[in-house]
Formats: sequence, structure tokens, C-alpha cells
Amino acid sequence: MGFATPSQALLDRLKTCVGASGWKTPEDAPRYFEDPRGRFEGQGALVLMPSSTAQVSEIVTLCAGEGVGVIPYSGGTGVVAGQLSIDDARAVIVSLEKMNAVREINADDAVMVVEAGCILENIHAAALEVDMIFPLSMASKGSCCIGGNLATNAGGIQVLRYGNARDLCLGVEAVLADGTVLNELAPLQKNNTGYDLRHLLIGSEGTLGIITAAALTLKPRDAETGTAFLAVGSPAEGLALYKALKGHLGESLSALELMSGLGLDLVTAKFPDLRNPFTQTPPWALLMEASGPAGMGTRIEAALEACFEQKLLQDAVIAQSEAQRDALWDLREYTPEANRMAGAFCNSDTSVAVSKVDGFIAETVAAIAGIHAGVQINSYGHLGDGNIHHNVFPPEGMGKAEFLAANPGIIDAVRLAINDVTHAHGGSISAEHGIGRLKTGDLESYGSAARQMMLRQIKTALDPKNILNPGALIR
Ligand code: LAC
Ligand code: ZN
Repeated sequence: MGFATPSQALLDRLKTCVGASGWKTPEDAPRYFEDPRGRFEGQGALVLMPSSTAQVSEIVTLCAGEGVGVIPYSGGTGVVAGQLSIDDARAVIVSLEKMNAVREINADDAVMVVEAGCILENIHAAALEVDMIFPLSMASKGSCCIGGNLATNAGGIQVLRYGNARDLCLGVEAVLADGTVLNELAPLQKNNTGYDLRHLLIGSEGTLGIITAAALTLKPRDAETGTAFLAVGSPAEGLALYKALKGHLGESLSALELMSGLGLDLVTAKFPDLRNPFTQTPPWALLMEASGPAGMGTRIEAALEACFEQKLLQDAVIAQSEAQRDALWDLREYTPEANRMAGAFCNSDTSVAVSKVDGFIAETVAAIAGIHAGVQINSYGHLGDGNIHHNVFPPEGMGKAEFLAANPGIIDAVRLAINDVTHAHGGSISAEHGIGRLKTGDLESYGSAARQMMLRQIKTALDPKNILNPGALIR
């Protein structure tokens, strides 16, 4: 099920449901079938752009009638093919882009109710209008949408202080597999009425329901934010520095991103407008940010000075203006694109306990070098969360296509090597990107039997016809 062919009558009714401006043929809408990293090609029978929850409900009801698959589509920035039907052209794509209203902002309850198609950056701007923040953030903030952020339980760059997407959501509205609308948008801090349906839907990658709106938690806007780029000799030194900074700054520390020297040279080479703030490229660098009441900047400087005296860091560049802060963050946020431009054929997303990051990096890098000694590895990511992304690309001067042709099987070999080390360290094969269609096999290989049994039982109970994002998460 989930892969029935839609009848012409169904397609006609779906088009009528959304009106003339609410649908496109796949030929007219290639962007819904593109993978941001160019590894997959999506397929589909029709692209629908509903403008209300009622329309989403009608679409799912109609598709359920014929057992036709529905692929929810958010900002299209997902990197595990969760939004792309890669081996079946019969599903209907449902893009929530027209549902982009901020329904309500209530500063007293610190909540904002938004529709699923709101772009993350627009949510940031709306929160600032009431002098608050919505802290979920990531490099794709200008195009990713909150529906997809929640469906994948996205992480990003401020997890160590504010948590993942699920920690910033008080309630959801969703269309279930038979078209029923579940409305649980009340911004309640306490609600013990059985299973937490919100958290079941968040992170379900559209396989249990289509999130159409969400009540988001807003946080107070701090008076002062400090951002610094810190040079260290190794990931182990980075972890020691992290420990010290936590001692000095506690909860105020909101980001601690790891970059490699190779990555810093790469991003400044690919984007010549970006500048390496260090006179000499360090082996590793940490981008840290902390915010709090007035005086925070001075506290950060004192903390860094103490760390410097203890020889926990080699060099520090502290942003002196908003422009300098943005320039430091650009180095981090342009890194995924620089990796792509360098021909990355592996972009891992696994996590281990923070205390194990050092051993994890050393062992994975050694394992990858054992597969092919010449490849370049840019390891970067969210040190404070134990979530490191290894990006592997061909030896200098060699193109991606040429390298892959000469080394068949290397993509899988590298992915499995990283998975094996992750697993051996008790980690997770998907830290923040989800399973999508890329990692269903990995989930079967590395997930516990109990986890897999419960996932399947929940899926069968809530989507017995397997029409919601069929093939994602569970194949
Ligand atoms: C990042 C994405 C790839 O952290 O997760 O850049
Ligand atoms: Zn990441």
C-alpha cells in the first residue's frame, strides 16, 4: 500500500480541492524533486500547494480513499531524502508553502502560533517584533520551514542551550492518515492526558501525520551577546575548553561549533569575501556564543582570559560589532556549501556522548584514511552536542566524478565506517537530519530490535494504509 496509482478522477478532485493556483504538474515544478546535495531525484504524480488545514485534510482523505501515497514537502532543505519519493512516481507531493501565516503571537504566554510553511528566518523576525527570540537556528534558516524543522526534529547551532526543535514546541496541529485534524495548539506548560501526541508527531518525518501548524516557545531576548572564534590544537583541547567555559558561563553559553583548519581554509578559498580572522590557520577552531544580561561581554572576556592563562586556548578573536559577529558566523554557515563545492561525497550526521567526541573523531578519521589514504576530511559540527559532521572529498586536484568512478563503492564504505565507529561508541546514526530514505537500511542495521518493533507498530496503528510519506523512516 501507499503506492497505488492515482486515478484520473482522484487527480481531478485533488486539483479542484486546491483550485487552479494550488497545483502544478511535476514537469512544471522541477524544484520539488531536487535534492540539495544532488544525490537523489524525486518523483511524483502531482504537486499540490494547499492554502488551509481544511484543504490538507481533504487531500489526505481523498488519497486515503485510493491508498495513494502523500509526500509532505516543506522547505526542501532536508539532506536524507525525507521529502523525495526516490523510487516511485505515483505519490502526490503536498507542499505547505502557502500556509505561511503567523496566526498569533502572545508575549505573555511566550508563544507564537505559526503555520507549517513559515520560513524559519521569518519566525525569527516575528519574534524580535515582540522583543523575544525563537532560538532554533541553522545554516538553512532562509529557506527551511518550521513544518519540516518539526517533522525532522531539527537541531542546529543553539541546541546546547535551547534544545532541539521538539524542546521549542508546545503544541501542534496535524492532519492524520485518514484526514482527521488533530488540534493540540493550546500553549499548555502542563498537560498529562496520556501519550504525548505532539512528541510522537515531531520527528516522525511526516509518516504519522502532516504537521500544519505549531505553537512555538519564545525565549527572552538577552541584553548582550558575545561571539568569539577560538583556536585550539585538537578536538580534545576543544572539549577541555568547553568544560572550562561551561564553568565560567553556565547556561549563558548558547553555541559551541567546531571547525577544522582544513575547513577554515576551504570556506575562505571557496568564498573569497570571507576572511580567516587568525593570522595563521589553527589546527582546529571553536565558534562560541554566549548571551545574558548587561555585562555579558565583559564576563566572556574574563572567561576567555582565564582560559588563555590556563593554556586552554591558543588564540581568540572576539567580535567587536554586529558585522564582525556575522562575519564569524558566515565562516560556519557557508561551510556546508563549501564542502559541496569541494566535491564532498560523504556528509555524515552522527552523534556520540560529548565526552566521547575526541575518540570518535580520531577513530573515524583513521577508518576513513584506511579506506583511501588520499581523501580530504573536513570534520566540523556541534561539539557541544556530540554531533560531528564528517565531510569527505577527493584528493586535491581530483574531481568528484573522476574520483568516484575510480573508487566504486567508496561512498557506502565511508558511511558504514563512520556508522560502525559511532555504534561502537554507543552513538546514534542520525543526530539531527533524520532517517528519510537515505538511512532506512542503516536504521535496520544499527537500531535495536525493540526500537524497530515499536516504530513499526506505531506506524501500522496510525497509518494502516501506509500512505503518509511511504518509504521514509521505515521501508
Ligand atoms: C550543519 C548541517 C549540515 O550543521 O547539519 O551544517
Ligand atoms: Zn549540523
